[in-house]
Amino acid sequence: MSDEIYTASGSPNIALIKYWGRRDDLLNLPNNSSISMTLGDGLTTTTSVMFSDRIKEDAVYINGKRQDYKAANDEKSGFMLKAIEYMREAAKTNARLLAVSKNSFPSDAGLASSASGAATMVYALNEALGLKMQQKELSIVARQISGSACRSIFGGIVKWNKGSRSDGSDSFAEQVVPADYWPDLVDIIAIVSESKKKVSSSEGHKVTVRTSALYRARPPFAEAGVAKVIEAVHEKDFNSLAELIMRDSNDMHATMLDSWPPIIYLNDASKGIIGAIHEINQSHGENMAAYTFDAGPNGHIITLRKYEAEVTERLSKAVGIKSIITSGIGSGPRKSEDCLITKELLAENERQ
Ligand code: DP6
Repeated sequence: MSDEIYTASGSPNIALIKYWGRRDDLLNLPNNSSISMTLGDGLTTTTSVMFSDRIKEDAVYINGKRQDYKAANDEKSGFMLKAIEYMREAAKTNARLLAVSKNSFPSDAGLASSASGAATMVYALNEALGLKMQQKELSIVARQISGSACRSIFGGIVKWNKGSRSDGSDSFAEQVVPADYWPDLVDIIAIVSESKKKVSSSEGHKVTVRTSALYRARPPFAEAGVAKVIEAVHEKDFNSLAELIMRDSNDMHATMLDSWPPIIYLNDASKGIIGAIHEINQSHGENMAAYTFDAGPNGHIITLRKYEAEVTERLSKAVGIKSIITSGIGSGPRKSEDCLITKELLAENERQ
């Protein structure tokens, strides 16, 4: 095994039609297909990986902190370990892994840092091991770490097919259009809270499926939404796209509120954003922007470059917005020159 370091950078994605609720919690198999926009500039995860016989044991550092996946003993950690092992076995090597990953944006604030982290890691492992797995296969591996991560394996607008097989082999992501098909799409992220969410999305999926009567209507609604979003994207029909995005976010959050005990990710500032966007759209006569919220209170405002300044200006007057991060549509994971494995870190992790 060569001791070469491979560094990749990747980005989170924002779901336009959401994944909420699974038919299989172990394999992360969703009840409906979903569709997202991969983000880019300003929001990146950089991950450097190296496999070497010189390393004494697997060591993964995320945002400066060494991860103890075995001790954590939770689902996500278990899947990360499984993914590393799966890739290593595929490469028929016993070499140990040293990995360092860093986000350019706050983690655990509903900005899909786990999607970005898992997708970039899987992409980097494939490259470092010379596995030449296709993106479809990488998305299946990433999906098992965190469902929404499978969509971050691709750039542009991405669909995650729910699939129907029980082994998950047909539940993978694929690109609908590349980033340069509609480069004017922008996500203005209004941060209203940076605190960690109280109910993890992993847990939330289960509670909603188990307890919400409203949820029964969600999979067919979302599945139809995916088909309509694909049409609106192909036609670059922003007015229709915006309505589909807002309605889907509202529908998902309605099923969360209908869960028992209720799951409430939106706060007053989020509701202020919803009001502000409807006002902007009404005064414009058609949709200039669409809000969408994942499992957290921060608003993602999807708009077009030509409206970005006006929407940002009007949005910044909404109460409770702490900061704004803007990202264009991104082209997915790629090689990076920004190596994060230092000589010191390597020495620390080498066999004596
Ligand atoms: C609301 O992908 O975080 O962001 O599969 O348990 O890791 P796990 O869940 P996760 O769920 C994301 C849900 C969402 C909507 C979406 O991104 O589609």
